[in-house]
Amino acid sequence: MAEIGKDIAQARYFLENGQLVGIPTETVYGLAGDALNPESVALIFETKNRPSFDPLILHTSSLERVEEFVSDFPENLKKLAHAFWPGPLTLLLPRKPIVPDLVTSGLERVAVRVPKHSLTLTLLESLDFPLAAPSANPFGYISPTAPAHVEAQLGDKIPYILDGGACEVGLESTIVGLEGEEAVIYRLGGLDISEIEKLIGPVNVKDHSSSNPAAPGQLESHYAPRKPFLLGDLEKLVSEKKREGVKFGVLSFAKHFPEIENQMTLSPEANLHEAAKNLFAAMRTLDQSQAEVILAELMPETGLGRAINDRLRRASVK
Ligand code: TXA
Ligand code: MG
Repeated sequence: MAEIGKDIAQARYFLENGQLVGIPTETVYGLAGDALNPESVALIFETKNRPSFDPLILHTSSLERVEEFVSDFPENLKKLAHAFWPGPLTLLLPRKPIVPDLVTSGLERVAVRVPKHSLTLTLLESLDFPLAAPSANPFGYISPTAPAHVEAQLGDKIPYILDGGACEVGLESTIVGLEGEEAVIYRLGGLDISEIEKLIGPVNVKDHSSSNPAAPGQLESHYAPRKPFLLGDLEKLVSEKKREGVKFGVLSFAKHFPEIENQMTLSPEANLHEAAKNLFAAMRTLDQSQAEVILAELMPETGLGRAINDRLRRASVK
């Protein structure tokens, strides 16, 4: 069992001693360790059961501190950093040699971000090193958006979880990098693309999976519950499962289905921010319910709906 609390000095003590701590961010909870200590970084991969080819994001408290770890900061990406940090944006930038190979899985770029959460920002300011922090879930499973989610899956492997309440955004950060002059989105996330495009013009979305992805968060099956997860027209899916006599759960955007026991409505007012915030917790609840199969529907393909749909589609791939 991990201790859950708001004691920043306690979290700092464990991190300075090479151990891992669950940390809150506005997107999802992270499994954090000293990014400059290869043993702590190795422990992150082991604890998450994550393949070593899948690199980690480096978290710091300010744009100035990010400059300690990157050898170049192109103007248009810096513009995004000024506008959206602290916030749900990760940038891929050329790394300095001080960043351990293990953090970037040997890649030339390092992923960096300044998360927006007061506890974690205070923690980061108090540390002499940045934190490497993947989402605090076993590899491939649904990301945690509350301390209890971290405790349920990694609580027996880490000493402390910093309790920052439920995550405000609920989707992982949007990952952006450059290919030549062109800005590329490698993972749709909590920062809406239109916000990015307002500042730097059109971006190319490369969130397709492949066997050797540039960002393994792009792996096709990811963010996945253990139960079969079917996407489609809910009315149809519901009547089909009723006919088959299968126990099912329903994950809907705004609609409430009367008489269905296991159902989660993401946003009764059809608000995409609210839906994003509730998504992963709802997927977990249904995964732990009596239902044998989870039925879900896509959101409108606009704004954060694109990122939510990306997670729903990946959850449905087995
Ligand atoms: O919102 C978030 O980004 C959360 C919170 C905790 O900050 N973190 C998170 O980390 O989602 P993780 O490890 O679950 O996902 C990071 C993604 C992975 O898909 C990884 O492949 C990609 O970022 N990534 C990290 N470093 C990279 C690099 N150098 N080049 C390309 N992709 C990279
Ligand atoms: Mg993850």
